[in-house]
Amino acid sequence: MADTFYITTPLYYVNDAPHIGHMYTTVAADVISRWRRLKGHDVHFLTGTDEHGQKVLRAAEARGLTAQAHVDELVQRFVALWDRLDITCDDFIRTTEERHVGVVQQVLTELYERGDIYKESYSGWYSTSEERFWTEKDVVEGEDGTKLCPASMKPVEWIEEENYFFKMSDYADQLRAHLEANPDWVRPQARRNELIGALKKEVGDLCVTRPKTRLPWGIEVPFDNDYVTYVWFDALLNYVSAVGLKSDPDELSKRWPADYQLLGKDILTTHTIYWGCMLFAMGLEPAKCLYAHGWWTVEGRKMGKSLGNVVDPHLLIDAYGSDSVRYVLMGEKSFGGDGDFSHRSFQLRYNADLADKIGNLAHRALSMTQKWLGGRVPALDANRAEDDTLQAEVSAAVADFDAAVEAVQYKVALEALVRIARAGNEYVQAQEPWALNRKGETERLAGVMRRTLELCRITGTLLAPFCPRKSSELLARLGVEEPGLAGLERLDGLVEGTELTHGEPLFPRMQELPETIAAALSAVEGETRTKTAPKKPKKPKKPKKPKKEQYDMIEFDDFTKVQLRTGRVVSAEGHPNADRLLLLKVDVGEGEPRTVVAGIAQRYAPDDLVGKDVVVVVNLKPAKLRGILSEGMLLAAGGGTVVALATTSEPVDPGTVVR
Ligand code: MSP
Repeated sequence: MADTFYITTPLYYVNDAPHIGHMYTTVAADVISRWRRLKGHDVHFLTGTDEHGQKVLRAAEARGLTAQAHVDELVQRFVALWDRLDITCDDFIRTTEERHVGVVQQVLTELYERGDIYKESYSGWYSTSEERFWTEKDVVEGEDGTKLCPASMKPVEWIEEENYFFKMSDYADQLRAHLEANPDWVRPQARRNELIGALKKEVGDLCVTRPKTRLPWGIEVPFDNDYVTYVWFDALLNYVSAVGLKSDPDELSKRWPADYQLLGKDILTTHTIYWGCMLFAMGLEPAKCLYAHGWWTVEGRKMGKSLGNVVDPHLLIDAYGSDSVRYVLMGEKSFGGDGDFSHRSFQLRYNADLADKIGNLAHRALSMTQKWLGGRVPALDANRAEDDTLQAEVSAAVADFDAAVEAVQYKVALEALVRIARAGNEYVQAQEPWALNRKGETERLAGVMRRTLELCRITGTLLAPFCPRKSSELLARLGVEEPGLAGLERLDGLVEGTELTHGEPLFPRMQELPETIAAALSAVEGETRTKTAPKKPKKPKKPKKPKKEQYDMIEFDDFTKVQLRTGRVVSAEGHPNADRLLLLKVDVGEGEPRTVVAGIAQRYAPDDLVGKDVVVVVNLKPAKLRGILSEGMLLAAGGGTVVALATTSEPVDPGTVVR
């Protein structure tokens, strides 16, 4: 029997317009699902929508619709987006579906009959925006004394009512023991530590109902129809209602516990404490791994309504194509950490990885084979030492890729993939097929091109989970119909004589931002300017003064040893062997410009720099950086991560002394 693999995403609030955060988790689940399917595993990938609750009801009322009609319409936005992003979920569950509602009601009845759910009077501060109660010590006092919800900063109401409670506290010790015994249950480690901290405190019982008088839009409580089920208790159960709880025990035991539950770090408590205790109460185990990803900011700011437009999923897909969006989202930040989405960085990553490495390799391999070898897969020649080295590098990278995808470390996986493309480009450079062709060394030329084409097959296959369309396109050009993992890493998988198709560049270089993106960006920038203009500028916080004694003091004479001059950037381009470096020609007033290798590629695109007057250390001993001799150093703010280059306030002649 094939290995089984079950993965889930959170159920997204159907009321929300799908955004980059939703897209991120769903693509992440799709990547490993596709990879496991390639391995022949029996995959079940579940996503869906969370459709009950106050906010949904209010929005429906505002539109003059029934709640059901409202959600039936809104869910389509998620369905349509997943379709455009080539999401291969095996099931899409909605919490208003009968198959889910029935299970929630059965679970409630069972727990109630067993005494795990009891009724009690309750009072507290209720936040409609978050749909939860807060205690006195949790709420925040607003400027006019209004009590505010600490999560949404919206007003809370004091509510006293009878409700049903789940005896969560009874399962807290079991949960603590589970956490202790399963180091990989919650990842990354920082989130696990947070949970360890939270579980040191007492775990209370969970209010699992809402009176219908206040909230009629929810799953009716079967033993008391004055109440509906609390949205979280309802929604969390989807992970098992979708795979046979109360309907198909075989399916349930085949799927549960899930291999991965992916979620954002903001909903870790509900997924560990609430969900963990609920599972124990039902006699089930928690999922093998709950992996909480970080938070996206956009263009350096918290995602808000106006800023959200800049990363509207459809705008991104229209402008960049779904494959590139998938690739950059997965490669830009490590899964557990926070990250910033900026269009500039998008362009840099796209160009550096997809256009310059993977696309370039494919273009070279196919066009050279076309030109010199009749456009068919050529024969291999006997391996030379450099071919063995290439094979070893590729085998290691494929193994790294696999391990990283399995661990949902997609940034690492894509680095391994790019390593293969880079090795391929370097191999072509070193073997000089053009020279072999000129000299008539046809056998070696064929062997070199064959290995280069094999590298295209390997990168094309590894691209499959991330960029399914481009992957199929590349493999089709190589005459490979179905990507397969058997013998993937070996440089002899193609069939000799197969006809190749050259075609247009797979990932054309992005010279500038697409017009729609540039327009969206400047609209937001204009808006923030007008919004902030009338306000009195806030007094800037005084930066903490660094203490004198923190520094190693030097004499004036020591300082004068460092010779600084202004330099004008004459040209700039990417470093051929390092994504972080740029290669600049800088005029420092010596006639011939100097070559300066600078670690600023993450911050600046080459075109941003030409014409700038920068500050150069001109008497630093030249040093080779990734194979290229740098004859100076630029000054920049930011220490390890460059935030801004030091430039002059006015244009000055190149070579002017800086003191
Ligand atoms: N409906 C609940 C989940 C119930 S699961 C049984 C919910 N929905 S949500 O639509 O608000 O959020 C869904 C996911 O989107 C969460 O994992 C959340 O972390 C994620 N994101 C929302 N904004 C985000 C960012 N700015 N960045 C990354 N992900 C974020 O919570």
